[in-house]
Amino acid sequence: MDHTYKADFVYKHDNPYHDRLGEFQDFVLRDTQGEAFRGKWNTDFFKREASLYLEIGTGYGDFMMEFCHHHPHVNFVGLDYRFKRGYQVAKKLSRSEVQNFCYLRARGERIAHTFAENELDGIFFFFSDPWPKKRHHKRRLFQAEFLNSAFTILKPGGKVYIKTDHDGYAEWMEELLQNHVQDQGQFTLEFQTKNLWENVQPSVCNIASVPFLSTFQTKFEKIFVSQGTKIKAYVLTSTKNLTSVPGRGQVQ
Ligand SMILES: C[S@@+](CC[C@H](N)C(=O)[O-])C[C@H]1O[C@@H](n2cnc3c(N)ncnc32)[C@H](O)[C@@H]1O
Repeated sequence: MDHTYKADFVYKHDNPYHDRLGEFQDFVLRDTQGEAFRGKWNTDFFKREASLYLEIGTGYGDFMMEFCHHHPHVNFVGLDYRFKRGYQVAKKLSRSEVQNFCYLRARGERIAHTFAENELDGIFFFFSDPWPKKRHHKRRLFQAEFLNSAFTILKPGGKVYIKTDHDGYAEWMEELLQNHVQDQGQFTLEFQTKNLWENVQPSVCNIASVPFLSTFQTKFEKIFVSQGTKIKAYVLTSTKNLTSVPGRGQVQ
């Protein structure tokens, strides 16, 4: 298992932007500061009960802002591991009208150390770095450990929303999902497509709509779509504590 997942992993703070991110302490947390809120995000950070969503690899924060704007009653944690970009994003976020978010400078591998069992309603996982070379595949964030962590921290019925531009990474995810959907039965595959935007126009970012994934485009997605790249997308639903495990690998 990648050491980053383990309890004794220690974050390094040797980047000058680690300290500079402290300028935004009202809405920015850095690695272990976020882990200190494990199990207490709603009560101690947001100080209100609400649905709690996590975005992994929030990039420039565009989706986080759009989603928080359309859903002011949710609590939202946007996580990314970049330091300098994180500082630029924080400057932009400091001018935001909505304040129902936290920007967390941390690693996606640490989600089970950052959120407690059954703490999250949903996880957004959009355009994760594909690490195309075979020798780098171990750096892909989407691994068995990642899915096990996601299953643990999601509430019963919680969802993982996934989009990728990369065919190889999509195949990699589908292979792993075979195990976690069909063999372990942790998730049902509620939605999947190999070409999300075929005959669809983006509308309003509305999580109640079906399928939600075609109601918005992230910053990177707009670039990929403009280049003619087909967007592969999936929605996983946790089967945890459900009285019956629905049919395996359901596809809409
Ligand atoms: C291709 S960008 C996509 C950004 C955004 N989701 C979008 O669709 O516009 C991938 C982002 O994931 C972040 N990232 C990659 N690996 C990560 C990791 N292990 N933990 C946290 N963030 C990560 C990168 O820093 C980058 O901002």
